Amino acid sequence: MEILKTPAELRRALGPWDPGLVPTMGALHDGHLSLIERSAAENDRTVVSIFVNPLQFNDARDLAAYPRTFERDVELAAKAGANFVFAPTNETLYPAGFATSVSVSGLTQRWEGAVRPGHFAGVTTVVCKLFTLVNPARSYFGEKDFQQLAVVRRMHADLNLPGEIIGCVTVRDRDGLALSSRNARLTPGQRAIAAVVPRALFTMRDFARGGVRNAEVVIEQGLQLLKAESAVTVDYLTIVDPETLDPVKTVSTGSRALIAVRLGAIRLIDNLDLLAPPA
Ligand code: PAJ
Repeated sequence: MEILKTPAELRRALGPWDPGLVPTMGALHDGHLSLIERSAAENDRTVVSIFVNPLQFNDARDLAAYPRTFERDVELAAKAGANFVFAPTNETLYPAGFATSVSVSGLTQRWEGAVRPGHFAGVTTVVCKLFTLVNPARSYFGEKDFQQLAVVRRMHADLNLPGEIIGCVTVRDRDGLALSSRNARLTPGQRAIAAVVPRALFTMRDFARGGVRNAEVVIEQGLQLLKAESAVTVDYLTIVDPETLDPVKTVSTGSRALIAVRLGAIRLIDNLDLLAPPA
């Protein structure tokens, strides 16, 4: 396993390889590791980028509080099959005078984009740089951040960026809560309550699979569970088309429930394919 700090080191180390790429901000958990393992299984070489991207944070405090566990991340990435960790500094990736932004319109305006202005442009700018630096054969993104995956797919298609985008299923805790570096910031009480988020999604899926296709009726089932928890504030609960992220009236193949809630100061997001065949 090699650690590379600059674009030049990265290019030199990669030589002629078109590797698998797993972009991350570190604080690796089993969700990230599932992406790395999949890339290692499908590519001769895997690059894991670890970079807490300041461009995609709207709040300086959130950026400062972001967990940084680099040594441990490197060990975990290596164990999961990474060959290279690309860990640039802010100054190498965004040199003085940096003035270019890559942004996707439409898709980025609503849901997470509506509460986090500029966030997706920060994501697409850094991911575009990673695509051009690494020239990946395949790049791995989690469905956990479903809107991010849709936005990255749009940019990738629109700009003819290299390789293929692979969406990977969400890794969950035993009670169903999607793994996230934010979960560590929940108090034990909040952590127990947070399980209502996947419970609401799974209940909605049960109704959809059971034949209820009216989106409003399915959403109401989820909302009822969420309303029973007074500590939970719902930012949105919707059912959308998986590509356009436009709300749908009727649940059909591929329809996704998207949810964002707040528990105290912590914001949790999750989503589910409502008609996915049982595993
Ligand atoms: P980060 O939050 O570190 O996530 C890195 C990748 O891991 C993303 O593709 C995310 O969707 C995936 N991931 C997170 N939790 C997961 C889970 N429980 N199961 C499966 N995959 C999961 O997302 C980012 O970083 C950044 O925006 C980035 C794309 C690196 C750009 O800076």
